[in-house]
Amino acid sequence: MAGARVDVLGAGIVGLTVADELARRGHDVVVVDPQPALGASYAAAGMLSPAAEVWHGEEEILRLGLASLALWPDLAGRLGTELRRGGTLLVGYDAGDLQQVERQAALLHRHGHPVELLGRAGVRSAEPSLGRVAGGALLPAEASVDPRAVCEALLGRVVLRGAPRPGTDVTVVATGASLPQPWTGLVTGVRGEILRLRSDDPPRRTVRGWAGGEPVYLVPRGDGRVVLGATSEAHEAPPVVTAGGALRLLAAARALWPALDRAELVEGTARDRPATADGLPLVGPSGADGVVLAAGHHRHGVLLAPLTARLVADHVETGRVDPVLDPRRFAGTPEGVR
Ligand code: GLY
Repeated sequence: MAGARVDVLGAGIVGLTVADELARRGHDVVVVDPQPALGASYAAAGMLSPAAEVWHGEEEILRLGLASLALWPDLAGRLGTELRRGGTLLVGYDAGDLQQVERQAALLHRHGHPVELLGRAGVRSAEPSLGRVAGGALLPAEASVDPRAVCEALLGRVVLRGAPRPGTDVTVVATGASLPQPWTGLVTGVRGEILRLRSDDPPRRTVRGWAGGEPVYLVPRGDGRVVLGATSEAHEAPPVVTAGGALRLLAAARALWPALDRAELVEGTARDRPATADGLPLVGPSGADGVVLAAGHHRHGVLLAPLTARLVADHVETGRVDPVLDPRRFAGTPEGVR
């Protein structure tokens, strides 16, 4: 459909990127959100880490993530926001943690993805701010962005309204962990707690590690700010930063990065990630006429935003759908999912 009138519900990084892509292609787009950019995108660390963040059983994320990572330089360039390259360093604090790194490397090798294993000295020279660790691996192609800066730039480019317009051709639902009926049950909230620090000795690149079996990541912003994340817990209650969650993150990060002791603790934030039953997003027709979903990105909303935008815009224009992401794969969407 050319020149479509489209409402995008949800001004998180996914909704905003979709809206920007549709507007760039000449569609008439507004974004509807009473609290723009304050959902999961507000907490997100901004790792563009398809390989470091892929979990066993979620291998499709690697394919999608690599495709989306390739779109990020253009998007960041258009928005004038920084894309930090330098890769991701996987590290294990002790011998057991190093096995986690080796398992991740083996998973990536099986998928033909290059990984450079590093011994203790190799980790030290790649990332001098780290303490003594058992070993690690470098994923040189990965990057990061500041999702708050990205959302702010996108908000400067889209038309924002408080309520949907009557008579739209297409409504794109991009409301994260809170989907409206009848799609509510397609996502569940998985709480993520993150901490923001300021340090005089930050890591140079994203560090994804394990310490005493506890996973943690550190994402530097380049000006001394470091985002430390993230807990992951399915929860009914509203997301809050718990003392236990903060303690686990700080203890794991401290084991890997001793400079944490001197860092200023600036902020703690918790939000729900929108998780689906199969770990893959919902991108495409909802089963209801004129309603398209762009939701359920779980731990990968920032990474997958530009690919999602392209897929949604292609779908609006041509009807094309990626079957892996088609929301109608779940029973329970309207019409027994056509
Ligand atoms: N991708 C980072 C997180 O979900 O914590």
